Amino acid sequence: MKKILVTGGAGFIGSNFINHILKNRDDYFIVNLDKLTYAGNLENLKESENNPNYVFVKGDIQNNELVNYIFEKYQIKYVINFAAESHVDRSILGAEVFYRTNVIGTNVLLEAAKRFEVERFLQISTDEVYGSLGPTGLFTESTPISPNSPYSSSKAAADLMVQAYHHTYGMPTLITRCSNNYGPYQFPEKLIPLMIINSINNKKLPVYGDGLNVRDWIYVIDHNRAVELVLEKGKIGEVYNIGASNEMKNIEIVKLILKHLNKSEDLIEYVKDRPGHDRRYAIDSSKIQNELGWKPQFSFESAIQYTIDWYLNNRQWWERIISGDYIKYYNEQYLNRK
Ligand code: NAD
Ligand code: TYD
Repeated sequence: MKKILVTGGAGFIGSNFINHILKNRDDYFIVNLDKLTYAGNLENLKESENNPNYVFVKGDIQNNELVNYIFEKYQIKYVINFAAESHVDRSILGAEVFYRTNVIGTNVLLEAAKRFEVERFLQISTDEVYGSLGPTGLFTESTPISPNSPYSSSKAAADLMVQAYHHTYGMPTLITRCSNNYGPYQFPEKLIPLMIINSINNKKLPVYGDGLNVRDWIYVIDHNRAVELVLEKGKIGEVYNIGASNEMKNIEIVKLILKHLNKSEDLIEYVKDRPGHDRRYAIDSSKIQNELGWKPQFSFESAIQYTIDWYLNNRQWWERIISGDYIKYYNEQYLNRK
């Protein structure tokens, strides 16, 4: 049995990871440590909550005592650190919590992992640590780190720290850097769920700047299959880029969502650009494809349709979210942006 600590497992990618693993594997015992911030939601884990190979612990990755207790009690040998503050716009509104969770929190986990001599420590990072691309070229694992937002700088700091623990203490670390994810259970502050939900509700769709910024989209299950593979077969000390070679301009995504939902493009509203907005991300994932044999399985066309249908069929899930603190965030973020 692989005893594995998953942090941030009540968020979008972490909950999809836990549900995916527990559905497909019986040799993993998962302890999910999550603080349940605004982004954490135990409803995402309904299908896993009664699984005998799963335990949930509510807590902060910055809590040294709790983290050490978990490592000892559950004899943790593997760590996957998904826990993070994850939204660029929120990092622009207030950066401190990003450095606390993403940097200090990761350090607490590394220290415990060192003390308890884990076999593998997998840091879930992002392509945003590479900064922004011009119209051509792709991020490879040797692209220099050059983050631009408070969010990406906190993730880059964590990556450098993880690499320092490998270099200095010989810790068995791994880092994955994935492009933009979409799929069920994504919090509606992010582009795709926000545009789906606003379209369903006939609300304006706030497109930043000229709408021509490019992101490289991957379905969350393809990301998580890569995470599973890197945890098991990745070469210690290495970085693996993950992406599905699916670059799209934001405005293309917005129009596609409107089309699928049979809504008018009159809902589109161009608003003031995000400060420091990265123009283009695009991932070269040939390393993980060639060395570990990973390939994306989902086409964008079918997975985005499935995702839109998921939001249509799970109104309860997001209606509860957008009726709470989200209103305050939405107003702060969008009201004076026109
Ligand atoms: P999310 O915001 O949906 O979930 C984050 C989870 O972490 C939440 O459950 C939250 O409660 C938990 N958390 C936050 N602070 C915590 C703390 N101090 N202690 C314990 N738990 C805490 O994020 P996501 O989109 O699922 O992203 C997960 C990871 O993947 C992050 O590390 C992110 O940087 C990375 N990533 C995300 C994307 C993307 O497109 N969403 C792409 C590449 C990498
Ligand atoms: P987001 O989902 O926040 O991911 P990231 O900034 O981490 O890539 O945003 C994706 C793209 O969509 C980004 O270029 C910003 C843009 N965007 C909008 O135009 N309007 C919005 O309301 C949001 C949330 C994002």
